[in-house]
Amino acid sequence: MGHTITVYSTRGGSGKTITSLSIAKTLATRGYKTVLIDVDIEAPSLVHLIPPPGDPNSMRYWTEYLDNPDLNVEDVIFTCKINNLSIIYSNTPEMGKHFLQTKQRSWWESALKRELLAQQMLYKMGYDFIILDNQSGTSMNSVNNMILADTSVLVVRPANYGADATESFIDEMYRVLKGIKPRNDFYIWNQVIKTENEDEEKILRDFLERYNPRIKKSGLTLGCEIPFDRVLNLRLLTSPENYVFDLPEDVQKPIDQLIDTLLEKGGL
Ligand SMILES: Nc1ncnc2c1ncn2[C@@H]1O[C@H](COP(=O)(O)OP(=O)(O)OP(=O)(O)O)[C@@H](O)[C@H]1O
Ligand SMILES: [Mg+2]
Repeated sequence: MGHTITVYSTRGGSGKTITSLSIAKTLATRGYKTVLIDVDIEAPSLVHLIPPPGDPNSMRYWTEYLDNPDLNVEDVIFTCKINNLSIIYSNTPEMGKHFLQTKQRSWWESALKRELLAQQMLYKMGYDFIILDNQSGTSMNSVNNMILADTSVLVVRPANYGADATESFIDEMYRVLKGIKPRNDFYIWNQVIKTENEDEEKILRDFLERYNPRIKKSGLTLGCEIPFDRVLNLRLLTSPENYVFDLPEDVQKPIDQLIDTLLEKGGL
């Protein structure tokens, strides 16, 4: 039986996409058959980050799979240059079709059923891990993906206003989710500043010590701290092929630590 992990945040831009990709790539490199799905259907990133093989106009997307019961998950899955790693893309929203259009509750209910079916099929196809690059906030979409997952990784940027906003609603969110099924949830600090002297380090450690208990009380386990990495950031200014699969060591190490904890705590 496989395992589904969603990478989630209450705020945008905290690093969900980069973290999802890093987790997926690391699991695949360790020999697990892994599929990464861009489920952020309102603002998909993977089409830009890892250009799909072939013509983007003639390929099929997750967004279409959710909408169209005639499509199978096999129709939307693509291999990439990393062994054991497949990717399912979402396409950039079209005006009127996916964008600026409020979907009925019933649409989201049937989308969740389509997702559950895809999950079953992917496990049958032998995937060990499904990684969902989620949308931030409390949309029907992000909640559907949280329900689908056995494990979520909440990505938090160390900034007092961001951490405050996160703390104020994760409590209810995770209480409801834990009532649906047993699950393991983690959080990570991402884009942690590299301090240059003791005073700066003290500010950072005081902040983390203040917020760690406030996040842990919602039942989340600290997975790792990922630094803000200049090299990773600079690579994102160049051609997509240059960065994604070869992580700088100071990012790879905490990701490995997170995965070790996930495997161990999840009993996998
Ligand atoms: N560890 C890191 N080191 C340096 N830069 C980072 C790191 N993590 C994320 N970034 C920067 O933050 C930006 C946003 O990251 P990412 O796209 O993964 O966030 P997101 O949470 O998926 O955003 P969205 O809410 O828009 O989906 C990246 O483009 C990158 O510039
Ligand atoms: Mg993203």
